[in-house]
Amino acid sequence: MSNGIQAIRGMNDILAQDTPRWQFIEQTVGDVLAAYGYQEIRLPIVEKTELFKRSIGEMTDIVEKEMYTFEDRNGDSLTLRPEGTAGCVRAVIQNGLIYNQQQRFWYAGPMFRHERPQKGRYRQFHQIGVEAFGMPGPDVDAEVIAISDRIFRRLGIDTVTLEINTLGTASCRAAYRDVLVQYFRDHQAALDEDSLRRLESNPLRILDSKNPAMQAVIAAAPQLADYLDDESRAHFDRLRELLDRLNIRYRLNPRLVRGLDYYTHVVFEWVTDRLGAQNAVCSGGRYDGLVSQLGGSVTPAVGFALGLERTVALLELSGHAGISREPQVYLVCAGEQAELVGLSLAEQLRNEVPDLRVQCNCGGGSFKAQLKRADRSGAEIAVILGEREANSGQAQIKPLRVDREQMTVGLDTVAETIVSWLGTQVDGDQPA
Ligand code: HAM
Repeated sequence: MSNGIQAIRGMNDILAQDTPRWQFIEQTVGDVLAAYGYQEIRLPIVEKTELFKRSIGEMTDIVEKEMYTFEDRNGDSLTLRPEGTAGCVRAVIQNGLIYNQQQRFWYAGPMFRHERPQKGRYRQFHQIGVEAFGMPGPDVDAEVIAISDRIFRRLGIDTVTLEINTLGTASCRAAYRDVLVQYFRDHQAALDEDSLRRLESNPLRILDSKNPAMQAVIAAAPQLADYLDDESRAHFDRLRELLDRLNIRYRLNPRLVRGLDYYTHVVFEWVTDRLGAQNAVCSGGRYDGLVSQLGGSVTPAVGFALGLERTVALLELSGHAGISREPQVYLVCAGEQAELVGLSLAEQLRNEVPDLRVQCNCGGGSFKAQLKRADRSGAEIAVILGEREANSGQAQIKPLRVDREQMTVGLDTVAETIVSWLGTQVDGDQPA
């Protein structure tokens, strides 16, 4: 396909062999969120550029160099959403959903960041995001962390670790920022180019640097924990107490600062060492200032987003195949009369056995060719109709995966036979 049009770098097709895992994750996460009283909302993929500048922060990597921004035909500056929180906050303000109310929402869909693509890092990627509004205390922080913990447990992923930190209130963060800038200025010679640039714009992000040459100067930097006010400390201590009570294990990571500017108090990340450099699978935190910053009334909020590509990769490493949607029955029909009977038999089977997955041979072919397709389809059973069977009101039922005698049965007992052969599998949608 060298002359054909290719997909954009970092924007991937998700092919049929992979969708069973995606569906398993989406269904499991949806079930978990429903169990905690969270409702789904659906949001636009494109928003005004200004929204992301004002929320994520002008000086962040995302806004500075990763957004897909363009002018539409009216000359308005629009951006493909690089994350979901900003749009969600815009929507809840615009629709009057949080005025004096508590709300629990989730959303799913593609996000876009012009990062350098590599394993686990793409330019179009997918998140399931969770946002809780109107609750100021650590109880709801613990709730959203418990949701993320339960999601990984329900998915059978045990290769992730929870890291938490607190950034404190906006004012103690500002005080810490000054101390940090002073410290890094005193050690300017040890900073790389990126960090020098961040020194004025976003000094907390220097702590996040992966540059080995800077680890010593980072390790010796003042810690935010020493600049927390009483309120911030009490909030964080209570959260830790709640997590302990819920038996949720975590690691304190005083260097965890996150790449978006809107966070206050708790920030957290589920990290893994199985995906190379891309170690965060799920991340979030509290953002008490964002709603008012975007024009709403002061509303505390907390949330997280699960990165689906990385979750799918971990599920694959765990050997989980996802939800099988392969046909269970393949209908072989050779000859004109057989085709006529066959198509209506397939409809009848779908009527009689809800959720049964039946694939019909279309496009003709010899018995041999059709049986080959049956085998390739993944079906457990072939229902075979030749002219002889079609004329005598019968069908042959042939097992494709197990050792069992082929049977000839009347057309009105095909469904029954299939159900007894498939046993419990016709309840369908079982994770493989
Ligand atoms: P974030 O840390 O930027 O947070 O992204 C959340 C998750 O999305 C990451 O942990 C990662 O799994 C995944 N992710 C991010 N970038 C990429 C990429 N280029 N390729 C593949 N996966 C990626 C947010 O987006 C916040 N809105 C989370 C949040 C919600 N905070 C509060 N509420």
